[in-house]
Amino acid sequence: MITTDNITTVRQLRWADPSASWGLVPTMGYLHEGHLALIRRAQEDNEYTAVTIYVNPTQFAPTEDLSTYPRDLERDLTLLREAGVHLVFTPSDQLMYPPDFQTAVSVTKLSQKLEGHTRPTHFAGVALVVTKLFNIIQPTRAYFGQKDYQQTVVLRQLVRDLNFNLELIVCPTVREPDGLALSSRNKYLQGEERTAALVLSHSLAAVKLAIEAGERDAHHLRQLVQDKIKAEPLAQLDYVSVADATTLHELTDLDRPSGSSQIVVSLAVFIGGRTRLIDNILI
Ligand code: PAJ
Repeated sequence: MITTDNITTVRQLRWADPSASWGLVPTMGYLHEGHLALIRRAQEDNEYTAVTIYVNPTQFAPTEDLSTYPRDLERDLTLLREAGVHLVFTPSDQLMYPPDFQTAVSVTKLSQKLEGHTRPTHFAGVALVVTKLFNIIQPTRAYFGQKDYQQTVVLRQLVRDLNFNLELIVCPTVREPDGLALSSRNKYLQGEERTAALVLSHSLAAVKLAIEAGERDAHHLRQLVQDKIKAEPLAQLDYVSVADATTLHELTDLDRPSGSSQIVVSLAVFIGGRTRLIDNILI
């Protein structure tokens, strides 16, 4: 495994055999089974696998958790070595955003939905860093988790709009046995907050049951989630969305034909005031 913070080294390795396929898994580190599942899928599909570890400052707002975001590079590198990853790119802030940096990348409409209400600058930062990583590594395929559903929709649009020559692949959300979606931010949960965090997956399960039982009114489904979250004293709802899975337009009636055949139910919840968690299901 080659670990480097140098773009020339990345490019030399990447183009040593121009006919070889490369899978890319971009991460912010503090790796868990969700990241490792993306890596395994990348290894199945490609001859070589690259992982990037970079806590990207431009996707954090000044009020967010950039400085406290969990990091453990040594542990991450051990996991990646054990997994058989070929290349790990760990760029510095200085390399990614030198002082004269001035370019913006923005996927306008999709970035304003869902997460965009609370995190209006988040996806511009994601689109910018992922554009840079795509250009640096030039992978054959790039892997992202459904856990961050809006991110996958925004990045699909980015790939289409900017003609990136790669295939974007979305992998299912990996969960703890009790249903909590794995997230580096779960580390912030203390004591009873860990149990309270189950309110996200439980709310989504309740929505799924209600739809299976015939509920078609999206407003009722959002209300169901609001009630579930209200019943958990340590939880505070940021948003709940029942939307078209392609356009992210909010739905009123699930039976009304829309752009895509799938519905995405997503929510963001503060647990214990500090920790903001997200989750979603596709129906
Ligand atoms: P990070 O939160 O580290 O996640 C890296 C990748 O792992 C993302 O594609 C994310 O969706 C996926 N992932 C996280 N938890 C998962 C889970 N429980 N199951 C399946 N996949 C999961 O997302 C980012 O970093 C950043 O925004 C990034 C794309 C690296 C750009 O900075």
